[in-house]
Amino acid sequence: MQVDRLELEGFRNYERQTVAFDSKCNVIWGENAQGKTNLLEAIVYLSCGRSPRTRADRELIGFSKDEARLTGRITARGREFRIQADFMRGRRRKLWVNQVPAKTNAALSEVYNTVLFRPEDLFLIREGASVRRRFMDNALCQLRPRYAAALSAYNRAQEQKIRILRDSQEHSSLMDALPEFNAQMVFYGAVLIHYRHQFIRRLNEYAAVHHWECSGGRERLTIQYRTVSSIRNPAAELSVLREELRQHMDAHQTAEQAGRLCLSGPHKDDLLVEIDGREAKTYSSQGQTRTAALALKLAEREIYKNVSGEYPVLLLDDVLSELDPRRQDFVLNRIAGGQVFITCCEEDRLTNLLGGQVFHVKHGNIVC
Ligand SMILES: Nc1ncnc2c1ncn2[C@@H]1O[C@H](COP(=O)(O)OP(=O)(O)OP(=O)(O)O)[C@@H](O)[C@H]1O
Ligand SMILES: [Mg+2]
Repeated sequence: MQVDRLELEGFRNYERQTVAFDSKCNVIWGENAQGKTNLLEAIVYLSCGRSPRTRADRELIGFSKDEARLTGRITARGREFRIQADFMRGRRRKLWVNQVPAKTNAALSEVYNTVLFRPEDLFLIREGASVRRRFMDNALCQLRPRYAAALSAYNRAQEQKIRILRDSQEHSSLMDALPEFNAQMVFYGAVLIHYRHQFIRRLNEYAAVHHWECSGGRERLTIQYRTVSSIRNPAAELSVLREELRQHMDAHQTAEQAGRLCLSGPHKDDLLVEIDGREAKTYSSQGQTRTAALALKLAEREIYKNVSGEYPVLLLDDVLSELDPRRQDFVLNRIAGGQVFITCCEEDRLTNLLGGQVFHVKHGNIVC
């Protein structure tokens, strides 16, 4: 999978810009606040219909503009595709694949995928469960359209349930609708657990190898799935998962209504990341945290390759220069095979080391 060409019009700080990329390595360098991350954001947006930085599409439109457009020419599975995203102030954005309107983000993910690694990803190891859930959701939404559909249905049902629990003291009749939303959360929740389990099993396999090699054969990384406590085996049939989710929900019904909180369901899932048997969140050093986050991202890339047969586009935003030389070499040896974009602030060792094409970004202008 590769992005051959990208056109940006009124997108963030880009007026109008067309760039042709190298099929292997693209180094994007420039001072702070010039547009390096904006460029990567555009590439990610066209792969999944969502920005990795914001949920509000209006933020993507240039400050003094009313419209913006991104157009990418992509090669994947030996075919060429044209993906377009149109943004208009006060209106919903429009997506197109080969000039045909795309109704869902999944239509874009079916064309190509991206894996983005940025400094914030160190939080994957250190922060609370919601960061790790977002990591899983992001990857699975790109990989499995059925997962993306189940996740949005689950979220809608959960929002309704939260509203009912919150407002039911003033309007007790609202409670009549609760069983319906509980049933939906059980139905779609089981689908989420099914896919998350499969994803984490493979993530664990690949990440363990990357971490082992990157740590010079000294540390063992393990990743385990933590879900609703009544689930005995997340690999079980959907009907079994649904029954066990229902039991958990029934057991927590009184507490949910008393606390007016949505306590039961996979919206509380987490990944337990351990290094040599100890929880990384609590015990890992800076270096171990970096290595583990890197291992997770490279594992994500392998999973995409396995599912789609081609490497996704890898985007490394400002991370390589933060790694020590040994880890830099490790990454550089691992990323051969697919298209890569790397941003950095100086045209230094990295640009010489990597080869490929070098782009200089200055005030929203890209020069080769
Ligand atoms: N909607 C927008 N319209 C115009 N400019 C914007 C918009 N959103 C962000 N910007 C500006 O784009 C500039 C470049 O942002 P970007 O995040 O790409 O910088 P960067 O080159 O990655 O810098 P750094 O090295 O600091 O990460 C910033 O100055 C930001 O204020
Ligand atoms: Mg940046």
